[in-house]
Amino acid sequence: MKPAAPHGLLLSSLCLALCCLGGARGSRRRVAADPGDNHQWKKLIMVHHWPVTVCKEVENDCRDPPDYWTIHGLWPDKAEECNGSWPFNLEEIKDLLPEMKMYWPDVIHPLNHSHFWKHEWEKHGTCAAQVDALNSQKKYFGGSLDLYRGLELNSMLQKLGIKPSINYYQISDIKDALASIYGVVPKVQCLPPKQGEEVQTIGQIELCFTKELRLRNCTEPGEPGGPRGAGGPGLEVCEDGPAFYPPPQQTAP
Ligand SMILES: *[C@@H]1O[C@H](CO)[C@@H](O)[C@H](O)[C@H]1NC(C)=O
Ligand SMILES: *[C@@H]1O[C@H](CO)[C@@H](O)[C@H](O)[C@H]1NC(C)=O
Ligand SMILES: *[C@@H]1O[C@H](CO)[C@@H](O)[C@H](O)[C@H]1NC(C)=O
Repeated sequence: MKPAAPHGLLLSSLCLALCCLGGARGSRRRVAADPGDNHQWKKLIMVHHWPVTVCKEVENDCRDPPDYWTIHGLWPDKAEECNGSWPFNLEEIKDLLPEMKMYWPDVIHPLNHSHFWKHEWEKHGTCAAQVDALNSQKKYFGGSLDLYRGLELNSMLQKLGIKPSINYYQISDIKDALASIYGVVPKVQCLPPKQGEEVQTIGQIELCFTKELRLRNCTEPGEPGGPRGAGGPGLEVCEDGPAFYPPPQQTAP
């Protein structure tokens, strides 16, 4: 798939900017579980993020972020922080460390990934652990790595010809391409355009699983794309229309 040339996009980007102003921001708070729902959840969301966009989002000068999609987390929908008496223990996943560093790095703090893994375990892993296949730290992190490897998002995007580019993609093209490969409805998240930017920037790709770890649609029939799943302070479900898939920064020679 060739990205569309940026000319001729001015009108739609303008519309995009306007739509974003009035957009669906209000309801993003509903991420946390309703009180009293006993940490019930139905699906697992495998969240991939694009490191270049992660760095841009925090306006951090990441040095040489990975040039492939990495894991943000494996998140049960509708449940967080399910067991405060189950602390993260790096020892339990020490066999997984080489892979963890490669595929689940803390993009923003590459010198010490443990904070990030601890956070993911406490917030999401303790809830995912309701499923037998994920009911230890080793199984949660190892199982997530297995799902990530099984999905092969990086090579799938390559195969589809969706590569980082200075030209823009249509979000619908990317969603359709992913749906055709995986046979389920994905969710794609973007950073809304900042001041002076024409378009949104692609940040996260989510693929969803049942409790039996089978692929399923990320949205229920009739459910709108948002608001669930926003994975960072600035990310939103992408608006239909053009989007930037930013190439890795060129480091000075
Ligand atoms: C919380 O985790 C601890 C440690 O693994 C476990 O003993 C306890 O049963 C868990 N509590 C719940 C409610 O799952
Ligand atoms: C990394 O962070 C963890 C968790 O906060 C901490 O326990 C550990 O000492 C840190 N490791 C290094 C090498 O700084
Ligand atoms: C998944 O989404 C597709 C496309 O919207 C729909 O045709 C299909 O019925 C959905 N599958 C389930 C199990 O809801």
